[in-house]
Amino acid sequence: MPLRLAILASGNGSNAQAMISAMQAGTLHIEIPLIASNNPKAYVLTRAEKAGIPTYAFDHRDFKDRESCDRAIVARIREANCDAVALAGYMRLLSHTFLTEFGGPVLNLHPALLPSFPGLHGARDALAYGVTITGATVHFVDEKMDNGPIIIQAAIPIRPNESEDELLSRIHALEHRIYPQAIEWLAQGRLVRKGRIVTLTGKGKPGIQPESALISPELEEGM
Ligand code: GAR
Repeated sequence: MPLRLAILASGNGSNAQAMISAMQAGTLHIEIPLIASNNPKAYVLTRAEKAGIPTYAFDHRDFKDRESCDRAIVARIREANCDAVALAGYMRLLSHTFLTEFGGPVLNLHPALLPSFPGLHGARDALAYGVTITGATVHFVDEKMDNGPIIIQAAIPIRPNESEDELLSRIHALEHRIYPQAIEWLAQGRLVRKGRIVTLTGKGKPGIQPESALISPELEEGM
């Protein structure tokens, strides 16, 4: 049975789209029974509808607190029989209630090399700090923001005088490759967690690595 993945997103949803496209192309062996958004106007919902994926749109301000909002989301995820959750630009911290009541793996994506530059503006903060290398990270979610055990990271050099938009678009291109890869590993049951350390078990066929970036663990065939 393929992994049943719920996606939570607040905005454009280009990463949700990368997963949908990889699933449709047959390189990502999952089902996506639900895409939920706390922003009823988010473009990710249109992407879901185009792909025939059921959606749950809500406004978190309609709930009395974070816990009741998270309980409602978990109820939808349960109804849709999902095994795992991917946060793809979901700009809200998940509560203890969400993580314990759902109980399954939850993954997140961040546009920086964690633990550097957590928060809402990973790329902007890296530029402002003046680092010369940044990138993207996929990690398991725990109760702290952008904090849990790391699954895969991609690093790129920052170009001289690079704008935030230019940098973000290069980071997005990497995210669209490493996030489906991390989810495929999860679906294959190859991610073993021990404390903060995630080990990738087994060995897949090597994939095509981007020339402009260093990705670890390396991408496998089809990703
Ligand atoms: C992605 O760049 C992701 O790394 C970031 O939101 C963007 C969503 O883009 N997430 C965070 O900053 C989490 N702290 P998308 O809507 O086009 O997929």
